[in-house]
Amino acid sequence: MNPLEVEFLGVRFPNPVVTASGTFNYGREYAHLYPLSRLGAITTKGTSPRPIAGAPPPRITETPAGMLNAIGLENKGVEAYLQDELPWLKALGARVIVNVFGERPQDFAYVAAKVSPYAELIELNLSCPNVHGGGLPYAHDPRAAAEVVRAVKGATDRPVIAKLSPEGPTLEVAEALEAAGVDGFSLINTLRGMRIDLETGRPILGHRTGGLSGPAIRPLAVRLIYELYQNTDRPIIGMGGVRTVEDALELALAGARMVAVGTATFADPYAPIKLVEGLERFFADREDTWLDWVGGAHAG
Ligand SMILES: Cc1cc2nc3c(=O)[nH]c(=O)nc-3n(C[C@H](O)[C@H](O)[C@H](O)COP(=O)(O)O)c2cc1C
Repeated sequence: MNPLEVEFLGVRFPNPVVTASGTFNYGREYAHLYPLSRLGAITTKGTSPRPIAGAPPPRITETPAGMLNAIGLENKGVEAYLQDELPWLKALGARVIVNVFGERPQDFAYVAAKVSPYAELIELNLSCPNVHGGGLPYAHDPRAAAEVVRAVKGATDRPVIAKLSPEGPTLEVAEALEAAGVDGFSLINTLRGMRIDLETGRPILGHRTGGLSGPAIRPLAVRLIYELYQNTDRPIIGMGGVRTVEDALELALAGARMVAVGTATFADPYAPIKLVEGLERFFADREDTWLDWVGGAHAG
């Protein structure tokens, strides 16, 4: 028996470690380092109906215990990924979670329908601006976010998970998405932050603000995963500053059935595979399994 095996929305994964969207692209830059099929799954870079050029540089900067990024959702658009990346990734034996975004609900549905033959799961990035809601991100607007879920559920037969933002009414959004039929959740996305260059007196990032990620946000992730787990029966992929076995187990205890590694990959491209191997060693001489830890902090 494999103590790391996880069933998630009817899909079997050999271990609970996935890459976080936007931190592993479509895997090509890492495929020469280790077999991508050794990871639980690859979550792809956010993919939209048409190509997006992204934000002006600089796009990333370090912070105490983390980083800020403002990539501006650069991607080649769904058609290019269907041609160049997804068949290649599947041929390697990797399991794939495709992260999808767009401006309108029908944009999300369009991309989800196109990538479904290659996707174990569809992950909706609800943190981008919503043109129908006066420019508010879906993450702040439970009704608009629910419309996205309804549109996507009507366009794909793959399980659909919603990626939640720690900004905005996270649990309220989750409740609305559940009523709209979402199958599961992932959290947390980044929080907006800023750094200013003392020499120029100007913001460092080209976009001025950027998303904060890394170990600095892990306690926030643990708190939100814990609270969401109390409010839902739907399975959760947890992320936010995960690098070590201890980090992963902490998120599992809070309620994460799978965990994603994001920012850690920027410091060490081997971070996701090291976590898989660390968990294999941890459970090798134990009676219990990964799944025995999931939600453990809620017992009693
Ligand atoms: C450079 C960078 C790009 C990201 N791009 C995306 C994206 O395209 N879609 C998305 O849903 N999340 C994106 N994220 C958020 C991560 O997937 C993850 O939710 C967040 O960084 C927290 O995990 P971490 O602390 O392990 O990085 C990005 C994060 C970083 C650092």
